[in-house]
Amino acid sequence: MSQVIAIFGAGRGLGTALARRFAREGYRVALVARRAERLDALVRDLAAEGVEAAAFPADLSDPANGRAVVEAIRARWGRVDFVSYQPCRAARRSSPPPGSTARPWPRSSACSC
Ligand SMILES: NC(=O)c1ccc[n+]([C@@H]2O[C@H](COP(=O)([O-])OP(=O)(O)OC[C@H]3O[C@@H](n4cnc5c(N)ncnc54)[C@H](OP(=O)(O)O)[C@@H]3O)[C@@H](O)[C@H]2O)c1
Repeated sequence: MSQVIAIFGAGRGLGTALARRFAREGYRVALVARRAERLDALVRDLAAEGVEAAAFPADLSDPANGRAVVEAIRARWGRVDFVSYQPCRAARRSSPPPGSTARPWPRSSACSC
């Protein structure tokens, strides 16, 4: 069973590039961002290349939504092996999901977005 990567902020930019790259490496890809239409278009693109991807639209500025997304990914694929987190502004207000070993984004971190 292939590994699962959750790309938070997969709607454009770095997140989209990472999604395509990990897909080429054989990962199943969970795509998270606010705008569902961008995620759906990427799911279609990846499916055309034989990649299993799914969209999980959510506003990550609410930590409860982040937790719900992780639960939804686990419900679909039974695992989350890796996480990539792009939405800088949302991260400043978010906490890692319960049970995660990830640490919160430091408030003093520089951010270019
Ligand atoms: N691009 C680069 O070359 C580059 C290089 C070095 C470092 N970085 C860093 O990498 C990070 C991402 O850069 P980027 O250029 O890819 O940024 P971006 O183009 O602004 O993309 C951010 C992604 O996060 C999503 N997002 C934003 N707010 C969100 C929220 N509240 N909830 C859920 N999703 C949200 C956006 O989609 P929606 O708007 O649909 O939600 C989008 O998919 C930044 O921290 C940037 O400083 C980027």
